[in-house]
Amino acid sequence: MVPQQTGRDIAPATGKLGVMLVGLGAVSTTFIAGVENVRRGRALPIGSLSQMATIRLGKRTDKRAPKIKDFVPLADLKNLVFAAWDPIPDDAYTAAVKAGVLERHEHLEPIKDFLQSIKPLPAVFDQYYVKRLQGTNVKQAKTKRELAERLREDIRTFKQSAGVDRIVVVWCASTEVFLTPGPAHQSLAAFEKAMEQNDQSVAPSMLYAYAALMEKVPFANGAPNLTVDLPVMERLAEERRVPIGGKDFKTGQTMMKSVLAPAFKARMLGLSGWYSTNILGNRDGEVLDDPESFKTKEESKLGLLEHILQPEMYPELYGKVYHKVRINYYPPRGDNKEGWDNIDIFGWLGYPMQIKVDFLCRDSILAAPIVLDLALFFDLAHRAGLSGIQEWLSFYFKSPQTAPGLYPEHDLFIQQTKLKNTLRWMLGEEQITHLGIEYYEKA
Ligand SMILES: NC(=O)c1ccc[n+]([C@@H]2O[C@H](COP(=O)([O-])OP(=O)(O)OC[C@H]3O[C@@H](n4cnc5c(N)ncnc54)[C@H](O)[C@@H]3O)[C@@H](O)[C@H]2O)c1
Repeated sequence: MVPQQTGRDIAPATGKLGVMLVGLGAVSTTFIAGVENVRRGRALPIGSLSQMATIRLGKRTDKRAPKIKDFVPLADLKNLVFAAWDPIPDDAYTAAVKAGVLERHEHLEPIKDFLQSIKPLPAVFDQYYVKRLQGTNVKQAKTKRELAERLREDIRTFKQSAGVDRIVVVWCASTEVFLTPGPAHQSLAAFEKAMEQNDQSVAPSMLYAYAALMEKVPFANGAPNLTVDLPVMERLAEERRVPIGGKDFKTGQTMMKSVLAPAFKARMLGLSGWYSTNILGNRDGEVLDDPESFKTKEESKLGLLEHILQPEMYPELYGKVYHKVRINYYPPRGDNKEGWDNIDIFGWLGYPMQIKVDFLCRDSILAAPIVLDLALFFDLAHRAGLSGIQEWLSFYFKSPQTAPGLYPEHDLFIQQTKLKNTLRWMLGEEQITHLGIEYYEKA
C-alpha cells in the first residue's frame, strides 16, 4: 500500500483524456499511430517512461519497484482521444504516409480507418512565422483575438463532441521564426490589446497557448518557439491554475549532449570545442532550412552546454569552448536524421583527445513517446492541482522553462531524478537521496 499522509490530493483519471495536437505532421502522426498500435497489442511503447519505466520506492532492500503507470494514477492509453489542427488538410493516415516514418503495411494499413477519422481542424496559421509552408486549411478572421476565440471554441466543441472529461494541448507544429519577448508579452492586458491590433509580436503559437489556458487546459510546447515561455503565459497559467511547459522536445543530438557533457564535467575533463551537424530530409528539415526558423532552433540547441559546464566556475576547463550547431536539409534521408558530433576534450596536463558521435536516428520515433509522456504527465499535474511551469518535466525539453531567476537543469539524469522524486512526492513516498549510509552504519 502507498502511504498517503503527505501526498497531494490527486483527482482520479476517470473518463477520457482528449489530446489536442497543434500540427498533424511527422511527430503527431507517429505518436497517434503508435498509441493505436500499442492499444491493439501490435507493438510496444518503447521510449516512453510513463509506460515502460519502474520507480523504486523506499530502501533498496524493500524491493518495491512498481511501474510508474501502476504507481501514479495516469490516464490509460485506451482512454486517449485525439484531435489536431493543421493548415494542410491531410487526414492522419495521409499525413502519416507522406511523413514516411512508420512502415505502411506493418503500422498504418491495419489502422487506416482509425487514422482517416482524424481530420485536422483549420489552423491559425500565418506564413510570416513559418516561411517554407503554405496551407489552405486556415481560419480567417479580422483580428488575432478573434482567431484565439475560434480556437477556444474548437477546444469546447471537441470536449463535447468527443465526450472527453479533460484535455491537454501539445504543440507539435513547425518551428516559428525567431522572436524575443517584448512589451506585448508582459501582461494579459498588453497581450489582449496586441491581439486586437494584430501586433506582429503575437505569433500563432501564442494564440493556441492563450486559448488553451483560457479554457483551463494544460499546454506543452514541443518546438523552440517562445509560446508559453513568456511572462503573460506564466501569469495566466497561475491565474487559471493550469500547468504549462516547454520548450523543444529533447530527442536526438541534444539528448546525447545532455548525457555526455555532464560526464566530462563529472570527471573534470576540459572541453575546447563541440561541432554538431545534422542532415535531415523531412518537412521539419525543410522548415528549418529557413534561416529565421533555424535561428529559433539554434538558440534552443546552443544554450545547454553553458548551463551544464558552468564556465564561470571552471574557466580553465570550459572558459573557451567553441560550440557550433548546423542543420542541413537533405531530402533523401527523410525523417532518418544523421547527427554528427566532433568533440574536442582535454585531460591530465592538458593533453587533447577527441570523441566522434554518429547518431543515425529517427527523429519522430524518438519524439513520439515524449509526446505521450507529456500528455499523460501534464494531465496528472493538473489533476494533482499543480499549475504554472512544471520544471519536473524538464527531462523532456531542450530548453526547459524555469521560474524567473533560476537556471535550467539540463543533465538528463538529474532531470530523471527530479521527475521520479516529484512522482514520489505527489504520492507521499520518501525522496530517494542515494545517500545509503544506513546500509553500512548499523546501530
Ligand atoms: N522530431 C524530433 O525529434 C523533434 C525534436 C524537437 C522538436 N521537434 C519539433 O516538433 C515539431 C514537429 O516536427 P515534425 O517533424 O512533426 O514536423 P512536420 O513538418 O512533419 O509537422 C509539423 C506540422 O505542423 C503544421 N503547422 C505549422 N504551423 C502550424 C500552425 N500554426 N498551426 C497548426 N499546424 C501548423 C505543419 O503544416 C505540419 O504539418 C517541429 O517544430 C520540430 O522542430 C521535433
